[in-house]
Amino acid sequence: MQISIKTEEDIQKMRIAGRLAAEVLDMIGEHVTAGVTTNELDKLCHDYMVNVQNTIPATINYGHKTTQYPHGYPKSICTSINHVICHGIPADKKLKNGDIVNIDVTVIKDGWHGDTSRMYTVGKIPGRTQKLIDITKECMEIGIRMVAPGVQLGDIGYAIANHAHANRFSVVREYCGHGIGKVFHESPQVMHYGRKGTGVVLQKGMTFTIEPMINIGKRHSRLLSDEWTVITKDKSLSAQWEHTMVVTDTGVEVLTVSDNYKFNY
Ligand code: MF3
Ligand code: CO
Ligand code: CO
Repeated sequence: MQISIKTEEDIQKMRIAGRLAAEVLDMIGEHVTAGVTTNELDKLCHDYMVNVQNTIPATINYGHKTTQYPHGYPKSICTSINHVICHGIPADKKLKNGDIVNIDVTVIKDGWHGDTSRMYTVGKIPGRTQKLIDITKECMEIGIRMVAPGVQLGDIGYAIANHAHANRFSVVREYCGHGIGKVFHESPQVMHYGRKGTGVVLQKGMTFTIEPMINIGKRHSRLLSDEWTVITKDKSLSAQWEHTMVVTDTGVEVLTVSDNYKFNY
């Protein structure tokens, strides 16, 4: 599949969408507390996107009628708690002390997508769990800092997996980062593992996400019968962080940043 190259005008629109997605995650942080339900978090994000930002939650009804996803995604955000790897569906269950949760937001503004996720913690969590969250963020950052024209995606995937493995964590293989623009998920696929010297050669103007999913236990995943929720097969904890970025003349610009959440290059 062809990889679309964005113009400076396109990128300016993606900057706006990316910032708005980041601002949803800024907004929701203080609400992620013991006793709140993920449906309540979903409603807060939905109303903020639709009424305050005038953005469209890209996930609502996403995948409807495609062969890959027979049922459209029902909510405005993904909330992936503890052993849920990704695509957790908000529900009426309350968060409790010790939970870790990834909140993943994708907005559409003026036809362009911004896709980003962060980890949130509820109350006190064990040291090894915090380590999982921190190393997963470092995996994302290591990948992002490598992005530049001429770099191959296999080298980036290799570096991400290498950092996870050095800390005795495993890398989910069934889900990956993706090209993004006017289309939510487009080419290229951005694997979070790989072989040096292989894969797509990056060019200025490519836009994509890096969103590693890292497990405390084994890497294998299982799809629940709701056809969305992905969990670790061994029920071990999983973490994920995500940014949307663009390849620049000399390196990378992260698009899903805000005044309160900058990227440290
Ligand atoms: N935001 C997710 C990603 O990072 C995709 C969610 S699709 C949904 O690509 F339908 F599950 F919401
Ligand atoms: Co994504
Ligand atoms: Co996402």
